[in-house]
Amino acid sequence: MKVRKAIIPAAGLGTRFLPATKAIAKEMLPIIDKPTIQFIVEEAIASGIEDILIVTGKAKRPIEDHFDANLELEQNLSSKGKDELLALVEETTGINIHFIRQKRPLGLGHAVLQAKAFVGNEPFVVMLGDDIMEDDVPLTKQLMNAYDQTKASALAVMEIPHEDTDKYGVVSPNEEVSEGLYDVNHFVEKPKPENAPSNLAIIGRYLLRPEIFDILEHQEPGLGGEIQLTDAIDTLNKTQRVFAHEFKGKRYDVGNKMGMLEANIEYGLTHPEVKDELVEYLKALVATL
Ligand code: G1P
Repeated sequence: MKVRKAIIPAAGLGTRFLPATKAIAKEMLPIIDKPTIQFIVEEAIASGIEDILIVTGKAKRPIEDHFDANLELEQNLSSKGKDELLALVEETTGINIHFIRQKRPLGLGHAVLQAKAFVGNEPFVVMLGDDIMEDDVPLTKQLMNAYDQTKASALAVMEIPHEDTDKYGVVSPNEEVSEGLYDVNHFVEKPKPENAPSNLAIIGRYLLRPEIFDILEHQEPGLGGEIQLTDAIDTLNKTQRVFAHEFKGKRYDVGNKMGMLEANIEYGLTHPEVKDELVEYLKALVATL
């Protein structure tokens, strides 16, 4: 069956970006002029996803408003002949985006479980908002291509410095079944470097078969007292194959300050309105260091 649906969990508190995230969702923080969550939605659209469910928490109304039509703004821009701006505000209003609230912050696995009725009995993808991915073929599409071959779940992984294993879910890879696609022995959430089975970390894209929901429904809290998606995936892997797909493109971890800054600078270097000035500015700045 074709993969048509995506879940974007967006219920985190965003404490790493306080005070900016006191009243607005971290997913609305912009990279120059575009909220980070819009990059995720655009990756979904580019991969051929038809329906998106955003799982929100408190203070997430601006996300709903962002993906809704804003008739007043559209009429205003249209009457002033600002067609380019009009196209920008209408960019993502054409895809079906649905919302559900995660009433209690019980963890990523619990957030994904909220999508059970939306997904039904189909394979689907989970896209985390903290990772913006860039590659010739969108990463979500790469996972969908792997699914076409294997009909099995697959998670995106990437090599990370060994000392960072306690920030990620980590896989213990087995054999490479086709280029960049690994069989996995087990999955472990945020192991200490001395216990980590490898330095292949789960980054924020998952393609999952619907059997994961039955597991999530009974999943006991794991690390940090949270219902961990990684634990449920490890259980799924015991009854059916779950693959790890190594991502070779560029990843911006916009869930932390340095990643956010890098994304702003590099997006700026391709942004038609500011790229030339930014190059000059950076050169001049570097000369003073
Ligand atoms: C979550 C997952 C973790 C994964 C990470 C990727 O952790 O639990 O397995 O490696 O996302 O960004 P979080 O970053 O929410 O702590």
